[in-house]
Amino acid sequence: MEQTLQVGLGERSYPISIGSGVLDSIGNRLRAANIAKRYALISDDQVAGLYGARVLQSLSDAGLSCELLTFPHGEISKHLQTIGDLASGLAERGFDRKDGLIALGGGVTGDITGFLAAIYMRGIPFVQVPTTLLAQVDSSVGGKTGVDIPQGKNLIGAFYQPKAVFIDTEVLGTLASTEFIGGMAEVIKYGASIDADFFAWLGENRQAILALEPSCIIPMIRRCCEMKATVVEQDEREGGLRRILNFGHTIGHAVEAASGYQLIHGFAVAIGMVAVTELAVKSGLAASGVAGSIRELLEAYELPTA
Ligand code: GLY
Repeated sequence: MEQTLQVGLGERSYPISIGSGVLDSIGNRLRAANIAKRYALISDDQVAGLYGARVLQSLSDAGLSCELLTFPHGEISKHLQTIGDLASGLAERGFDRKDGLIALGGGVTGDITGFLAAIYMRGIPFVQVPTTLLAQVDSSVGGKTGVDIPQGKNLIGAFYQPKAVFIDTEVLGTLASTEFIGGMAEVIKYGASIDADFFAWLGENRQAILALEPSCIIPMIRRCCEMKATVVEQDEREGGLRRILNFGHTIGHAVEAASGYQLIHGFAVAIGMVAVTELAVKSGLAASGVAGSIRELLEAYELPTA
């Protein structure tokens, strides 16, 4: 049932593997891919507690050396000090350009680890092991990395592609249901902005998706990654087309900020998608009824729309 696809970016191309139980075979996969001499597993304190030992064991079983470096969970850690602390941790352990990083966690971990990989010794390889739905369908693919500064989110960063993305759908079982629902906002974003059939499919398969049935979850994540790959292949550095992936995010980010970051990202994006579509309908850029159908699907997944 495992699915694989490729992000085609010339010499920076990489595979995405999606399946149940992928976590336990990461060591063998990394050994076969021959990406680095040894690895640092970067994770927040919560995800490290849940899955760190399994990933370390998998690398050890495959004969690969790996050390765990953690940071406190949450967006609060997504700043330059965390990058500095982790870089010092790597330097103290003698990590050099032949070594690599593994990002194990959600969007914050992927963004931090990717940015650290982009700048440590002017660039070392890294792989993404996303553990939230949002990271699995969006942030782990495409090479956007970075941290926040007091003036705004993601204002410091780099486009830096991973060498591989390993998606284990089993880990969604330990994800808080609010986080899963928040991730569904990004899934719905793909349907609303790129693929009408997929949008309809999300409505028809709601129950199976919410029950995390692998027969729906794996193809759903695959389709999102496929759409993201197709967009990134055409516009890696967001000169134009890639902005389609920001549907709902302009108003969403404002809503998120206005809530003092109490509202989770996916919820804010859901509100942003409805608001911007209503504006598009009013401006004659979208047919009447479009905002209603987006609102209806978001509400079916118990996402806020206002
Ligand atoms: N999350 C939108 C992008 O990667 O472009």
